Amino acid sequence: MAKDYPRITTPPPGPRARAVIERDARVMSQSYRKDYPLVVERAFGAMVEDADGNRYLDFAAGIAVVATGHCHPEVVAAIRAQSERLLHICATDFYYENVVALAEGLARRAPGPGPWRVLFANSGAEVVEAAVKLARLRTGRQKIVAFYGGFHGRTYGALSLTASKPVQRRGYAPLLPEVVHTHYAYCYRCPVNRDPRTCRVQCLDLLTDTMFGTTLDPDEVAAVIVEPVQGEGGYVVPHPDFLPRLRDLTRRHGILLVADEVQCGMGRTGRLFASEHFGLEPDMVTLAKGIASGMPLGALLARDEVMQWSSGGHGSTFGGNPVSAAAALATLKLLEGGLVDNAARVGRRLMEELRARLSAHTSVGDVRGLGLMVGVEIVRDRFGREPDPACRQRILEEAFRRGLLVLGCGRSTIRLAPPLVVDEEDATTAAVILEESIAAAESAR
Ligand SMILES: Cc1ncc(COP(=O)(O)O)c(C=O)c1O
Repeated sequence: MAKDYPRITTPPPGPRARAVIERDARVMSQSYRKDYPLVVERAFGAMVEDADGNRYLDFAAGIAVVATGHCHPEVVAAIRAQSERLLHICATDFYYENVVALAEGLARRAPGPGPWRVLFANSGAEVVEAAVKLARLRTGRQKIVAFYGGFHGRTYGALSLTASKPVQRRGYAPLLPEVVHTHYAYCYRCPVNRDPRTCRVQCLDLLTDTMFGTTLDPDEVAAVIVEPVQGEGGYVVPHPDFLPRLRDLTRRHGILLVADEVQCGMGRTGRLFASEHFGLEPDMVTLAKGIASGMPLGALLARDEVMQWSSGGHGSTFGGNPVSAAAALATLKLLEGGLVDNAARVGRRLMEELRARLSAHTSVGDVRGLGLMVGVEIVRDRFGREPDPACRQRILEEAFRRGLLVLGCGRSTIRLAPPLVVDEEDATTAAVILEESIAAAESAR
């Protein structure tokens, strides 16, 4: 059946959308910076419909959340069935079966030898907090290492690890003490050689020598937290040696390695866990966004010997609630039933299309990614590689007007993070609209 989107009939924001935005401005917290004025009425699969009946192709997925597409019938059916039986009873105090089944499913698939255990919470930030607490508890050490460009959430502990944009931290000090930041292996910004295949620069040695040779005794470090592919920081795939060497280093010093897969996990990169691309076997994994296709849920996976709390030492009223657990079980089944493979296949096509169509554009500094986690970096000129956030903003707006939803990340990157149900035709449509939007923004420079 022919797709009836993208289809813009009323230039957005139309009158119904504007009415909602005006009400929002009067009563809602204005802490969020929205890239463009989209007011959503409903959504299905990779289609989003706004309040005025415009239809968009969704390459944002609610910030990489709706893995199985909007309102997938099997996810909706699981939520409906569960909500008629049990909405809440509190996994901190009592038992129920579906959350155990979900823990079993995740533990079975965790990246690395088990056994694994799972702790549930409501969000990414909450499971990052739990990882920090657990690392300190289990090692008796205090220091935590995180990376520039990393994003781990906005609650105090998670925010202390986040090093993505100054505005996320400005005015909130003091943050958690004993957090140290160091450099991620950003090949795409390397001044010497951007191609990791031919790179001979020992940047990883420089990182570890600098950090552990000057200011930080590795034997005092409880955990290193790293995104296997950086998300909010710019959709950055690290140098292929980076994570394996980080693993060696952390093992040598008894440091726990936490893979924050809140954004890159649950199939987005074409593997269930992004860690798998690098042969990374972390001690803990944090998951949230894609896990329950839009229902609030976070999961901390840890190897059994690591996840040993004192009884009563951690908990959550809503974490792992039965309805979110039902949505997550349905999501996991769909991911393993073909959506992860689809993400790998369509992701390859998307990357090819983007590279072919965008290579002539002087504002495109890089196209990078894994699976359906793809970043297009917008620069002032390709050789200087200076970020151009104003041009990026124009491109997001141009795409929106043409019926494509994409978001920004990093200083001037466009993130493409569609639901994992998109097909080759969607990939081509997105690449075509993005190219038109880039051309329009370039001519307005
Ligand atoms: C890698 C990563 N970790 C943690 C978080 C925080 O998740 P939440 O917004 O659910 O608290 C995010 C959110 O974008 C993220 O991308």
